[in-house]
Amino acid sequence: MSYHQIYARWKADPEAFWMQASQAIDWTTPPSRAFFDQGPAGEWFADGMVNTCWNALDRHVAAGHGDRLAVIHDSPMTGSVTRLTYAQLQDSVARLAGVLAAHGIGKGDRVIIYMPMIPQALQAMLACARIGAIHSVVFGGFAAHELAVRIDDAKPRAIIAASCGLEPGRIVPYKPLMDRAIAEATHKPDLTIVFQRPECAGEMTPGRDLDWDAAVEAASPVDCVPVTGNHPAYILYTSGTTGQPKGVVRHTAGHLVALAWSVPNIYDIGPGDVFWVASDVGWVVGHSYIVYGPLIAGATTVVFEGKPVGTPDAGTFWRVIAEHKVKSFFTAPTAIRAVKRDDPQGDLVAGHDLSGLKAMFLAGERADPDTITWAEDRLNVPVIDHWWQTETGWPIAANPLGAGLLPVRKGSPALPMPGYDVQVLDEAGHPVAPGTLGAIVLRLPLPPGTLPTLWNAESRFDKAYLQHFPGFYETGDAGYVDADGYVYIMARTDDVINVAGHRLSTGAMEEVLSAHPAVAECAVIGVADALKGQAPLGLLCLKKGITTEPAQIVAEVVRMVRDQIGPVAAFRTACVVERLPKTRSGKILRATMARIADGETVKAPATIDDPAILDEIRVALASVGYPVEG
Ligand code: COA
Ligand code: AMP
Repeated sequence: MSYHQIYARWKADPEAFWMQASQAIDWTTPPSRAFFDQGPAGEWFADGMVNTCWNALDRHVAAGHGDRLAVIHDSPMTGSVTRLTYAQLQDSVARLAGVLAAHGIGKGDRVIIYMPMIPQALQAMLACARIGAIHSVVFGGFAAHELAVRIDDAKPRAIIAASCGLEPGRIVPYKPLMDRAIAEATHKPDLTIVFQRPECAGEMTPGRDLDWDAAVEAASPVDCVPVTGNHPAYILYTSGTTGQPKGVVRHTAGHLVALAWSVPNIYDIGPGDVFWVASDVGWVVGHSYIVYGPLIAGATTVVFEGKPVGTPDAGTFWRVIAEHKVKSFFTAPTAIRAVKRDDPQGDLVAGHDLSGLKAMFLAGERADPDTITWAEDRLNVPVIDHWWQTETGWPIAANPLGAGLLPVRKGSPALPMPGYDVQVLDEAGHPVAPGTLGAIVLRLPLPPGTLPTLWNAESRFDKAYLQHFPGFYETGDAGYVDADGYVYIMARTDDVINVAGHRLSTGAMEEVLSAHPAVAECAVIGVADALKGQAPLGLLCLKKGITTEPAQIVAEVVRMVRDQIGPVAAFRTACVVERLPKTRSGKILRATMARIADGETVKAPATIDDPAILDEIRVALASVGYPVEG
């Protein structure tokens, strides 16, 4: 069936479409129907009984595929490649689940996972799924404070961590970061399980910290525990407009069905195929398509601990694709820009047999046409942009390779996937004509696999996503849809910025800057960055009478953001200004300042309180190297 037939079939009868899709999953008790009009925005397959780990591991082993490779861990950081079959992964997961169960952790209990890109991270996630515990993975590039905020929100019974992560040129000691986070948090977990890596041993707290190896060796394996379809599989925190991250909830059955549909239809991956998603388990891309999606499909997933460049060079991606016979490859545009910067002609592609590669997928930020063309010319495969969010868990718009590729239009992530009715509305909520810019919204209900609510924050869910445009989910992205239905994502409508494919809150950074004793007021904006898409820039107004050198204050706030949010914020620049431009009602004109920093000719908005301030901002931005236009 072609894309257009699939989409039309879904539109004609969503209930029948998703009930049929649900047959790709093993159920303990099949659901009586697909959609349940309950909860803040509807739920899927709520009365079915199912287990994620069974669908990802046990059913493949039971079907005789225990010897098939489940995971290839390729780590240029340690110079090692480790392979795990489905049977080996099932055994290690069942034992780790046994450790958790022996400590009384079960259905509905939360477990935070703070680990780098090692197979144990997948084992930890699957072990939680096996017993119905709700995991929340925290990306390793976040600092202790961010981990503490998530501990206090999720209230985990246990934390599973590695002793360290490996970044180029440095070891990131996760264990002390976890200890600091636990000390800072009000909520305390009962236990932690620490995987000690040879590169750096974490110091253990007796009575609280268990050694992974010893605990797993001594444990008895446990079986999968069926849960209801609307049981939360996981919570994944993502940046909103404030320093308090949003805990996106994923329900079990919708997640399984959406991934079972999307892996073959979008990525063209089936049993035995090798899928490589060069992201991190700490992001939604990692949850859906490094861990769960490929395993549910019975495929082999590549877990890569390295960078696109510098580990050891810009040929690493091509080496991994050739060596492991990768069929579909997925990364962020920023990673390809990094490769292109180091190897502009793509000379390092030569010598690698990429004949098994069928397509490269890009997501996480806008895929600029130059990057797409560069990759197409070097790899000779389709380069497919697709668009989604932590909230949706799987692509909203894509070009479905498995269902038959549609013509590529560079700059567009192509067409809506079944389940998603994409509309563009003006500020008053009226639909706009094709090609007209507006707020991109999705008609409710959202499809299976998308967020049903936010953890412990139903009213925030309502306010952030549902209130502004009744009957629709507000994506927070602005863009347009052309006359043929191709979607174009152009910008965010909120204060979220996208740095190297990572979604970050300027509000969270502003909270950190405001805490500096010399800072009276501040703003953080996202400015264009050739490599990372956007980079954060701080503007600081100092308190009266401050005599400290501005350069010192800037160095201090840069350090504070790194310590409190983490290196992933990539906050490196700030400048001191006398005043910030505001509307007459007091709202800081962040977007106006960002356009000035990007070199656009900007006229003062009609609502501005004092237009003269824009000239002061121009001078300040020019002084730190921005290409400001008069
Ligand atoms: N644990 C600890 N620190 C981490 C980390 C992790 N898991 N991931 C990144 N960091 C650190 C980096 O070491 C870096 O620290 P530094 O300031 O000391 O150099 C900082 O966070 C910023 O990292 P990053 O934004 O990744 O920049 P980079 O300069 O290290 O690398 C790219 C640039 C383009 C190569 C890199 O951003 C990349 O590969 N991006 C892919 C994005 C991606 O996969 N996105 C997911 C959505 S698909
Ligand atoms: P995250 O929740 O971290 O996955 O970030 C989601 C946000 O990243 C989206 O709301 C968009 O702003 C942006 N994004 C993701 N993929 C794309 C894409 N293909 N094109 C443009 N923006 C994208």
